[in-house]
Amino acid sequence: GRVLLAYSGGLDTSCILAWLIEEGYEVYAFMGDVGQEEDFVAAEKKALAVGAKKFFLEDLKKEFVTELIYPAVQANCIYENVYLLGTSLARPVIARGMIEVAAREGCDYVSHGCTGKGNDQVRFELAFYGLKPDIKVVAPWRIPEFYNRFPGRQALIAYASEKEIPVAQTTAKPWSTDENLFHISYEAGILEDPNTTPPTDMWKLTVSPEEAPSTPERITIEFKQGLPVKVTVPDDNNKVYTDGVEIFLTLNTLARKHGIGRIDIVENRFIGVKSRGCYESPGATILRVAHIDLEGLTLDRNVRALRDQFTTVELSRILYNGHFFTPEREFVMASIPSSQRTVNGLVRLKLYKGNVIVEGRESSEGLYDEQQSSMDELGGFEPTDTTGFIQIESIRIKKWAQANIRKQQA
Ligand code: ARG
Ligand code: SIN
Repeated sequence: GRVLLAYSGGLDTSCILAWLIEEGYEVYAFMGDVGQEEDFVAAEKKALAVGAKKFFLEDLKKEFVTELIYPAVQANCIYENVYLLGTSLARPVIARGMIEVAAREGCDYVSHGCTGKGNDQVRFELAFYGLKPDIKVVAPWRIPEFYNRFPGRQALIAYASEKEIPVAQTTAKPWSTDENLFHISYEAGILEDPNTTPPTDMWKLTVSPEEAPSTPERITIEFKQGLPVKVTVPDDNNKVYTDGVEIFLTLNTLARKHGIGRIDIVENRFIGVKSRGCYESPGATILRVAHIDLEGLTLDRNVRALRDQFTTVELSRILYNGHFFTPEREFVMASIPSSQRTVNGLVRLKLYKGNVIVEGRESSEGLYDEQQSSMDELGGFEPTDTTGFIQIESIRIKKWAQANIRKQQA
């Protein structure tokens, strides 16, 4: 059969490529450009040298930003209070790109190099089946003939030299990474001890806050319906960015310079094991701060509470667990536009040594009324009205307090 392999150019997927050929498959290699820093030309050469019959590189950046990253920003998606979901977000567009190529090129099989312990195998495969239920998946790291033959890195390296697969001279970094234009992840290797502090040279997308400039930099982000539509950088000749991908890349550049967006957590994977991960989500961190701030000014209180309980929680879980191509994802995402109708305006930010500091915000939505909110003037309603409000609110609280006192005295 013909198999389309999600190829990364690294040791694992190169060995998988050679092994699939040995197993009798005709192998086509696939790479999705989701904004990772990668030498795609070298990767193509390598895939073809190892024996791939064809190589496909799909530019998925635009759809990654508009279909995945934007809804996640609008819904303030976050996993276990810390992780901004960068890897989870890219999987649906990569899987869809693969299924399109597989269907077009007559591949009955798709394959990937995800381990049998992680989230990515689940995300990829549920996405494949959600798009093309008759697709067949080859997951070598879950096939005994494969994993028994390659019990460790040394076995892969030996196989690579046997198959004349070039192994990068630089000794492999003692952790594994996954990169796209939203983030980079670092897991495994020396990071598996949760008490090992990541070496300073691990971090790739940001400078350390200590090394960031000691002069703060100011930017303005304008939102329409909860989406960033314009970024202005006064310190850079008032440069203005309006294109979706460009806005993201600009925020990444600024955040990188100011050391913004590093995190280090122990998270619960979908299959139930805990895993320590370090992440850099530079631009995403700026956007999150700005978006949440603007919602304070522009979003109705009860809409916000419902969105926080439902859309944010559910969409985050859906993304993390790989349930993107499902009816529940469509259902949850349908709640985003109506929650974001009033999220229009701009936020002024200061970037400084790892921090995103809000300096002000502005909107013409009119939910905030300076006079009504003022501590210095009367306005909007009679102060005596609130006396009744507090009296009614206190009925049950007084009862509870009386009961407590009675119990203590008994
Ligand atoms: N733990 C993160 C997640 O599940 C990052 C996974 C990184 N994946 C990888 N293939 N290196 O989203
Ligand atoms: C992997 O297991 O392939 C990477 C980590 C993950 O998917 O969670």
